[in-house]
Amino acid sequence: MSLETAVLVEAPASHSTPLLILAVAQGELPSSLAEVDQCGGGALTRLYATGDFSGKRDEVAVVYPEGPAAKVMLVGMGKVAADQGTAIRRAAAVAAKRARTLGVSEAAFWVAPEAAGGIDPAALARSAAEGLPYGAWQYTALKQPPEDRRAPLERVRILLPQGADAAGDGHRVGEAIAAGQAFARGIQVLPGNECTPSFLGREAEALGERHGIAVTVLDRAAIVAEKMGALLAVAQGSDEEPRFITLDYAGADGAPIVLIGKGVTFDSGGISIKPAQSMEDMKFDMSGAAAVLGTFEMLGRLRPKVRVVGLIPSAENMLSGSAYRPGDVVRSHYGKTIEVVNTDAEGRLLLADALSYARRYQPACVVDAATLTGAIVIALGHVATGVMGTDDALVEELRRAADRAGERVWPLPLWDEFRDLIKSDIADMKNSGGRPAGSISAGWFLREFVDGFPWAHLDIAGTAYSDREDPTRVKGPTGVGVRLFSEFVLARAS
Ligand code: BES
Ligand code: MN
Ligand code: ZN
Repeated sequence: MSLETAVLVEAPASHSTPLLILAVAQGELPSSLAEVDQCGGGALTRLYATGDFSGKRDEVAVVYPEGPAAKVMLVGMGKVAADQGTAIRRAAAVAAKRARTLGVSEAAFWVAPEAAGGIDPAALARSAAEGLPYGAWQYTALKQPPEDRRAPLERVRILLPQGADAAGDGHRVGEAIAAGQAFARGIQVLPGNECTPSFLGREAEALGERHGIAVTVLDRAAIVAEKMGALLAVAQGSDEEPRFITLDYAGADGAPIVLIGKGVTFDSGGISIKPAQSMEDMKFDMSGAAAVLGTFEMLGRLRPKVRVVGLIPSAENMLSGSAYRPGDVVRSHYGKTIEVVNTDAEGRLLLADALSYARRYQPACVVDAATLTGAIVIALGHVATGVMGTDDALVEELRRAADRAGERVWPLPLWDEFRDLIKSDIADMKNSGGRPAGSISAGWFLREFVDGFPWAHLDIAGTAYSDREDPTRVKGPTGVGVRLFSEFVLARAS
């Protein structure tokens, strides 16, 4: 069950609600809230006088005033920046996450004009519509409800100032992106025994039916017929059949944007087995696939004028008597041969065949998202996604889209010198270059299968899931990539 939002042109002072959320910048009580404060019997003045709250980023205070709002939550946005979209999205998420403990099913959300930094109402509505459901997200389906469970927050009205009647369009975009993010997180969170390659195939088909998007799912026999030798090598150790999923959203004619998502539903490492510590997190190794599916959920709801093809190569990386082994040489879909020196470098094998398959679309560009390397976590932590590619303009376009989306993305170089890392004695390349520049050698491997189109690669291993709770989210899946992909494709729509 997810949080719904709606826009309403109404002043916060007169709005009657069980919970009024006020997003404010760092500093004194904003003068625009004087009327709200008066209606509430001066509760806000008293709060600020205590020094308990000053509007720092992520700071939250709840007061119980008189008047039309039973509870008032202040949420801090920190200092006002040039573009407040990201701060509004974040404050909305922080507030919605905190509101879950307040036992209200409805609330209203207002950004003090002093904190809005002149953002137009449509953009404000959009940011709030993205942030509120993001903060409220949680996954409870596999747990008994706690005895002291409180009513979940179900509906938030985003209050807007007079003259903001056209903000509904911005809200609609934000709502669709939020739905895409929630969809992605809902798939990411599923355990590997539930979320298998065939499950992903069925989810894609259901999505296609919901939205009238063409979806094709290749089973093992069809993948064999396609000669996707790299994908098949990864899949051969598992009892779960691989799938190769295609989604084709044709909102416009012409060369499509192709989005590829790594869909390893569980990564044990194979014969080059991973250590037991945190191996359970490898159920998140299909987060690239989830980002692509979430983006198509957005596309299905918004129906923008753009053509987007999604490709999801999906397999489980396991150990067994039939598993591929270190030293094996496999022939990829493209035709190049690969020496498998490490069965844990499996994601690039799936992606290689997807990149090769993408050629038939004569794409305008190809962008892949993959939980590809532990090395990116060493380089950029859990803060930023790494980006690299063959086309500087495309990388720049993605970075700008990420800025608007409030997702951090940082570039790594694919210089020729790094190619040496994946030289093989007996095949066209090997699948691992070892520890030095681990994210770049993985990028270089993918580049070997990029032929005739601008391409960029997003390494989301550090950003796809969170190993701890923070102010905007629970521990677990982040839905990373959905907002970035959405910004990217919507900016290319005519
Ligand atoms: N799925 C992992 C990468 C990963 C690591 C994702 C940590 C999320 C968190 C990937 O398949 C992998 O195992 N990569 C290896 C490559 C190495 C063998 C060259 C790695 O990073 O250790
Ligand atoms: Mn691996
Ligand atoms: Zn993996």
